[in-house]
Amino acid sequence: MIYTVKENIKPEGLNGISNDQINDHWNLYVAYVNQSNALKQELEALRLEGKASTFAYADRRRRFGFEFAGMALHEYYFANLKADVELNEESDFSVAVKEAFGSLQAWKEDFINTGKSRSIGWAICYMDSETGDINNHFVQLHEEGNIPSFHPIVVMDVWEHAYMVDHKAGGRPDYINAVMSNINWETVERRYKDAKSKLASQRD
Ligand SMILES: [Fe+2]
Repeated sequence: MIYTVKENIKPEGLNGISNDQINDHWNLYVAYVNQSNALKQELEALRLEGKASTFAYADRRRRFGFEFAGMALHEYYFANLKADVELNEESDFSVAVKEAFGSLQAWKEDFINTGKSRSIGWAICYMDSETGDINNHFVQLHEEGNIPSFHPIVVMDVWEHAYMVDHKAGGRPDYINAVMSNINWETVERRYKDAKSKLASQRD
């Protein structure tokens, strides 16, 4: 199988995030797709050559984790961006957030603070598939810090490349505010319901 670029999730016309910024960022996503495919082929070739126990294979396998997670997180990110979608405060996601954080505002403040972590990485709101609980976490790089059986519900890229076209290096707070005004809450709700429907796949 081959991974393909998901053209249907490319956002445009966002509030406070220019199409130039998205186009630049999109090219990086395309590179992750291409690199994932190239590494998958390289790993297969090494296996067929009987080199699966070599240092080279182990190195390429780790690299595949980076490239694949980079591809997947960018897909979650771009797909949850859309201008002018109102959050339904009675949605299943909103109810779960209020249960976990006390209020939507408290969750939002925590998610924003997660995005302001002093590192490149990702702010991710997850649902714990075993308990249904909502958690905000910071993931460095792409493949380090993702939590087993947590499903991504809201994903925000806070690598500097995500905002350097529109803002300078210190512009992360403005960028985060822009992202928060462009969350596609309909996608978020669908992800939450999909994750909840998988509650049967518990870890035990
Ligand atoms: Fe990115």
